[in-house]
Amino acid sequence: MKKDLIDIQDLSREDIDELIAVAEDIIADPDKYAEKCRRKKLATLFYEPSTRTRLSFEAAMYELGGQVIGFSEANSSSAAKGESVADTARTVACFADIIAMRHPKEGAPMVAARSTHIPVINAGDGGHNHPTQTLTDLLTIAREKGRLDDLTIGCCGDLKFGRTVHSLIAAMHRYPGVRFVLISPEELVIPEHVRTDILQANNIEFLETRDLEAVMPELDILYMTRVQRERFFNEADYIRLKDSYILTPDKLTYAKPDLAILHPLPRVNEIAVAIDSDPRACYFRQVLCGKYIRMALILKLLGVK
Ligand code: NCD
Repeated sequence: MKKDLIDIQDLSREDIDELIAVAEDIIADPDKYAEKCRRKKLATLFYEPSTRTRLSFEAAMYELGGQVIGFSEANSSSAAKGESVADTARTVACFADIIAMRHPKEGAPMVAARSTHIPVINAGDGGHNHPTQTLTDLLTIAREKGRLDDLTIGCCGDLKFGRTVHSLIAAMHRYPGVRFVLISPEELVIPEHVRTDILQANNIEFLETRDLEAVMPELDILYMTRVQRERFFNEADYIRLKDSYILTPDKLTYAKPDLAILHPLPRVNEIAVAIDSDPRACYFRQVLCGKYIRMALILKLLGVK
């Protein structure tokens, strides 16, 4: 196992199985873990907005008996004075035992990881990757469906800039019988490197389509995403594309009765509030999974048994 978690493929399938098993054990007996990280500190370095990721990391560390330091906007750190990510990471490593970093620039957490001896976790880097969201998604899928193989996974929305989808495909393609249905407007299709380097290179079955309702009956998982406004070059394109897909109850008429609807959140318009009371809506249970899997990850990276 590597020192850091930068890309979901830094973890083997065995690593992921182990993290899921530990998360399940924490859910079953949280008291057993309440002192595991006593006197350890997590630093959350967030150069981009976040609610769930940062707060679940912080709640995770507190529930392990540890402590948290950090910042939640770049402007309140020395980044505003021009400090490099490498220097910030070296500095923070003098105070903390582990770092979770979110940054608008692709690769910034990797730079931090190379600049310090303590573990660095990528909490989202630009439109690139978001491995701990994927661990959250895998725990959710394992709990909701009882398996991670033999699934048809529909990813819908902004597949171009949506880093959670890139990491989800990078993780799930390794499980047998997984097939992807990629639903997006033409302008927001998955990046070429995901199509060629992951899907085609591994002979994974996938379909690209614009039509959510046509494919709905096939899906075991529907992974909705937000159109990533902050990554658009112009506002007019965002406005034109933002409501491309809105999941409303009528669109679920031909969905499987055991479909699992996931969303990394925040949602804007893409899932109607009326869906929330449908038992197939998993996204708030998914949020809670995020805390437990991050607890398991912190333990693993700190080498705490
Ligand atoms: C996602 C992200 O930051 O990429 N949110 C999250 O971490 N739960 C998805 C998004 O912002 O749309």
